[in-house]
Amino acid sequence: MAAQLLDGKVMSDALRAEIAEKVAALKAKGVTPGLAVILVGEDPASQIYVRNKGIGCEQTGMHSVTIRMPEETTQQELEDQIRALNEDPAIHGILVQLPLPKHLDEAAALAVIVPEKDVDGFHVQNAGKLLNGLNGVVACTPKGALEMIRRTGVNLSGKEAVVVGRSNIVGKPMGVLLLQENCTVTICHSRTADLAAHTRRADVLVAAVGKAKFITADMVKPGAIVIDVGINRVDGKVVGDVDFDNVKEVAGWITPVPGGVGRMTITMLLQNTLEAAERTLA
Ligand code: GUN
Repeated sequence: MAAQLLDGKVMSDALRAEIAEKVAALKAKGVTPGLAVILVGEDPASQIYVRNKGIGCEQTGMHSVTIRMPEETTQQELEDQIRALNEDPAIHGILVQLPLPKHLDEAAALAVIVPEKDVDGFHVQNAGKLLNGLNGVVACTPKGALEMIRRTGVNLSGKEAVVVGRSNIVGKPMGVLLLQENCTVTICHSRTADLAAHTRRADVLVAAVGKAKFITADMVKPGAIVIDVGINRVDGKVVGDVDFDNVKEVAGWITPVPGGVGRMTITMLLQNTLEAAERTLA
């Protein structure tokens, strides 16, 4: 394998140890960071994410609660639950697990979370702060992906960065973060003409498409940093958006799936929750 592995587990273990120390210091001051996760319905992938979030909290000494609401929950019931958590002093971070069942309005629900407790960074106030270069909560997946890119030690200034995917959760904030690193950023999407012509120019390539093995070796510049945000299930196996086995022979650095960005996303969630708790003492 030509590429160096960007191991999300190794990086997360080190970061979580640092977070655990800071949690202990905060507890000594009488504040236990608390995360509340709201899970509506029975989506199997969401159940796994939520379980891993709980494990992360336990590892780092944080308080966590999971509020399970039935599939038929109404918008009013969901928003009332969020408002109750907004008022709860033991809770510093609130996360509404997405996707919500189809009959619920995601944007309206997320808008109810007070921005200080929006540890996902999805509230328009936090998204707007990121766009304006102001301090706010940064969405966990792009934040974790950037941390992995930084750990290559490559000077990002002036580099070509290509993000494939334009979601509010990953693609758009990822593009803004790379712009802040002085990359020249291109955001590609399903309507992009000649996608490979763009990806082949990328010194940093972030794949957030949601299609298994979508990025093939011929689409990658030799030596590139390749970050795979995808989590796809194929024949019961979890695979990313990048054809790992072939792309690893071309890339300079690559993240595995599983054990890559997904692990770092949860670590960033823990960090955002810690910081939200720290702010209550500031
Ligand atoms: N569903 C998949 N990823 C995420 C995430 O990072 N946050 C939330 N709230 N829901 C998700």
